[in-house]
Amino acid sequence: MHYHLILFSSCNCLLAFHCICSLICPTMALKSFLFFFATLLLIQTLAEAATCSDCFVQSRAAYYPNSDDNGTDVGACGYGSFGATINGGDVSAASDLYRNGVGCGACYQVRCKDSYYCSDKGVTIVITDSGSSDRTDFILSRRAFGRMAQTSDAAASILRLGVVDIEYRRVSCSYPGKNITVKIDENSSYPHYLAFSLWYQQGKTDITAVQLCETQNFVCKLLDRSYGAVWTTTSPPSGPLSLRLLFSADDGDESWVVPVNNIPQDWKAGQTYDTGVQVNN
Ligand SMILES: *[C@@H]1O[C@H](CO)[C@@H](O)[C@H](O)[C@H]1NC(C)=O
Ligand SMILES: *[C@@H]1O[C@H](CO)[C@@H](O)[C@H](O)[C@H]1NC(C)=O
Ligand SMILES: *[C@@H]1O[C@H](CO)[C@@H](O)[C@H](O)[C@H]1NC(C)=O
Repeated sequence: MHYHLILFSSCNCLLAFHCICSLICPTMALKSFLFFFATLLLIQTLAEAATCSDCFVQSRAAYYPNSDDNGTDVGACGYGSFGATINGGDVSAASDLYRNGVGCGACYQVRCKDSYYCSDKGVTIVITDSGSSDRTDFILSRRAFGRMAQTSDAAASILRLGVVDIEYRRVSCSYPGKNITVKIDENSSYPHYLAFSLWYQQGKTDITAVQLCETQNFVCKLLDRSYGAVWTTTSPPSGPLSLRLLFSADDGDESWVVPVNNIPQDWKAGQTYDTGVQVNN
């Protein structure tokens, strides 16, 4: 209504033309008002599209060609067999969303789009691998792919299609009863080479930096993301090790979290250690 008034008052009709003006001006004013309003709507829609983190994005998804229902034991994230079975086996490889490993462990709601076969809820998957197929964003485990369907018959039908149109959005990961856990990589070699990944991170932020600190004098060392979700250092500090984890949200918010528990002094390749902390946002 506010714009309406401004547009009308900008129409300076002289008395002599009052009759014509009163015919034309309101029409012109209405037209420019509608145009103005449409432009406003468009700007608002574009702004929403740019900031809408909850909106679904249109894409395509395929599934792993192996016969196993779960994901792969050799996923690019470096989770090993855990990467095949985490989240009940509802896992996926990502192409662009892999983000050089930063995307490892992120959760997405993925739903296929044929209303006859597909459920409204779709499936929530965890990224454990990198890869793309025919213009896809996801290569789901066979199990996760089938779970986008409403029934097991419908699952068989979409599995026969191989690749389907989907829409997806990032959602929080949820691991009830779990804390963030350090998994020391099998390839680690005490005490010279330490490699580990972090399991069971809830929420929808990314771990973008990891520090390892001595608990005595607090000398810290920034670790390298060697690939996927695997953080490494060739000369780890000695003694019990205190972790520092940097969580980054997609709105740019960053915060360091210091776990309650240390990695014990005599850490062993292949072991898991509970950090005693969990995040939810
Ligand atoms: C697949 O994952 C499920 C759920 O974690 C697990 O029970 C099952 O043993 C796995 N299957 C194989 C073949 O690893
Ligand atoms: C461990 O080392 C072996 C042999 O060097 C390599 O093939 C394998 O990819 C490594 N595994 C991980 C998880 O880095
Ligand atoms: C998670 O951490 C809390 C606080 O450190 C601890 O009390 C709890 O036992 C841990 N949970 C698990 C499943 O280890």
